[in-house]
Amino acid sequence: TITPVVLAGGSGTRLWPLSRSLYPKQFMSLVDTPTLLQSTLLRLQALDGIAAPILLCNEAHRFVVAEQIRRMGLTPAAIVLEPAARNTAPALTVAALLAGTDETDPILLVLPADHHIRDVDGFVATVRKGAALAAEGRMVTFGITPDAPETGYGYIRKGSALNGDSPPAWAIDRFVEKPDRQTAQQYVNSGDYCWNSGMFMFRAGKLIEQMERHAPEIAAACRLAVARGRTDLDFFRLDKAAFAQSPSDSIDYAVMEKTDDGVMVALASDWSDLGSWEALWQAGTKDGQDNVIHGDVYLQDVHRSFVHASSRLVTAVGLDNHVVVETKDAVFVAPRHCVQQVKALVDRLKTDD
Ligand code: GDD
Ligand code: MG
Repeated sequence: TITPVVLAGGSGTRLWPLSRSLYPKQFMSLVDTPTLLQSTLLRLQALDGIAAPILLCNEAHRFVVAEQIRRMGLTPAAIVLEPAARNTAPALTVAALLAGTDETDPILLVLPADHHIRDVDGFVATVRKGAALAAEGRMVTFGITPDAPETGYGYIRKGSALNGDSPPAWAIDRFVEKPDRQTAQQYVNSGDYCWNSGMFMFRAGKLIEQMERHAPEIAAACRLAVARGRTDLDFFRLDKAAFAQSPSDSIDYAVMEKTDDGVMVALASDWSDLGSWEALWQAGTKDGQDNVIHGDVYLQDVHRSFVHASSRLVTAVGLDNHVVVETKDAVFVAPRHCVQQVKALVDRLKTDD
């Protein structure tokens, strides 16, 4: 069986002002009616042999997560509460420790709760292929053909091709997390690299072994945080003091850049991590003017723009390629090609406070 592990602990600052620390993007309905977290779980229904999922989130979001799952009529294996944000390596170590037992060593399917995938059949075919490789003790990534030198992604260099059914798979020659712009451009030009999707498959025991080898401090802190943790209603609470001792690191830096056992399966579906307003415009349903509109919006002579109204009527005239996002307490306006700067803007806002 495959145990899904859903990562729902990110902060999604690049979708400011809609995505806020109290209510990050994974809990919102940004493209379809279900929230991104719910869509992630719904996508799994197309897979056979799937166990109940393990969800991991920040303690502050426990009720949002519990409520969204309850509405789906889903019973998770666990909702794990992190008392502090320590990034994805500790979260996944905890999931592996909780999922693996002496008798069973399940294959974990790691899914970020904020990705958008429409082609469920392609997703299912990719996961099937990944499961076969993970069963053999591989650390499986899903690769995406890059179309721009994005610096917010991991880059994977294809090694020797592996035999087997479609979609194709390769040994990982090199994994480079978030290269600089120039390096990313070289990788894209070479045609030898894929983007890392951020979804992974491996056996629980394999991840623990890899964490112990490449990031022993994280592994030790997580062991203690789980051993001293406690079940509380629908939640599993990690021990606060023990988890706080864990270094903060992502699985990409902690393990994937270092492992010798990495393989990559070509992701046979569409994919977006909805990492920016631009990505949301790309993934959204366009009207006749190529605008993506949410809420109470009235436009005239506006094209190729993303306009979101949360609490008031938003109107605009004569805009091209812009983003306008209205919320109760903040409004953001930018040309579409500048939206990456929102992260720096929010960082400045926080320090000026
Ligand atoms: N539970 C939990 N706890 N989840 C977390 C935490 C945490 O401390 N930190 C992040 N997450 C969740 C996020 O919500 C997201 O779903 C996922 O883990 C990945 O974290 P991001 O912070 O979004 O990572 P990234 O986008 O910078 O980079 C990753 O994803 C890229 C593709 O979108 C990497 O895997 C890259 O290599 C990859 O290209
Ligand atoms: Mg991300």
